[in-house]
Amino acid sequence: RLRRRLVECRYAIDKLVPHLLSIYQSLIPPEEEKAKQKQLLLSLEKLVNKQWPKAQLHIYGSCANSFGVSNSDIDICLAIDDADLSKSDILLKLADIFQSDNLQNVQALTHARVPIVKLMDPISGISCDICVNNLLAVVNTKLLRDYAKIDDRLRQLAFIVKHWAKSRRVNETYRGTLSSYAYVLMCIHFLQQRKPAILPCLQQMEATYAITVDNTKCAFFDRVEMLRDFGAHNKESIAYLLWAFFHYWAYCHDYTNDVISIRNGGIISKRSKDWTRRIGNDRHLICIEDPFEIEHDLGRVVDKFSIKILREEFERAADILQFDSNPCVTLFEPY
Ligand code: CTP
Ligand code: MG
Repeated sequence: RLRRRLVECRYAIDKLVPHLLSIYQSLIPPEEEKAKQKQLLLSLEKLVNKQWPKAQLHIYGSCANSFGVSNSDIDICLAIDDADLSKSDILLKLADIFQSDNLQNVQALTHARVPIVKLMDPISGISCDICVNNLLAVVNTKLLRDYAKIDDRLRQLAFIVKHWAKSRRVNETYRGTLSSYAYVLMCIHFLQQRKPAILPCLQQMEATYAITVDNTKCAFFDRVEMLRDFGAHNKESIAYLLWAFFHYWAYCHDYTNDVISIRNGGIISKRSKDWTRRIGNDRHLICIEDPFEIEHDLGRVVDKFSIKILREEFERAADILQFDSNPCVTLFEPY
């Protein structure tokens, strides 16, 4: 009887596929947006090169990792080798350069956790945050983009999860919930764990790409065109996976003992990382290991109040997908 109920439940969830895919389609940015971003990047680089001829600008974050929705701000990293200037001085100088070129709302935030210059380009209306020498973010952006090329279901799942997280206001690190980056890592981990697996673990395969950044060795298999069939044995639909994702985080994840690690392709123990107790502000109530900065827990922003909110939202989402009469609307109802 139980088995029959499970099959019926899965059948009902699978019926949501067209609706979820149309939500996904509506979130994808149009091609011309990408072109505008490239153009802005080139014109900013030109300005920067007048001052620092060898400096380079790289796009990272959602505009480059393929998990960005329409009208996102762009995250840019300035790669520069200027031993005479501190990071703050570089940012102040950058702000000067942009200000004199009529870019708008130019602001140097030198005391932020990641210090940046903010600006808005009045021609395209695009806003950017520019940081200095944060090259690990450029490399983790490539890792995410490479994962997205392996199986379409990752991009679909992550878009829908990010859309849900924004609607439900659980994508606000300053309020103790998770970053978009953390949600994408959770999606990758989840698809690595399916049986059969939908994603491989690129960092455990032969390294075809390797770079050392800030003394951290980053290496992984990046010939992902060869892996386009990797998940083909798994026929789970995007709707079923979405439900299973929330169900996992609502009812199956072991919050007391487990760390999710896309680096190692599975679960590792909190004990092995010494993440069992609060150290400073890191409470480790939900543990998501950064793929390269492995001492970083992306869940460190979560506190004893926000962990409750998060877990209730995971339960709400799983239950809606299973029992609600209009799940694709109720799921995203604004909080
Ligand atoms: N990042 C990081 N470590 C973090 C948070 C972010 O390295 N703790 C880097 C990642 O390269 C990530 C980028 O900063 O891709 C931007 O992070 P975030 O704003 O969380 O994600 P976006 O993909 O830009 O999402 P959104 O669409 O919400 O802007
Ligand atoms: Mg961003």
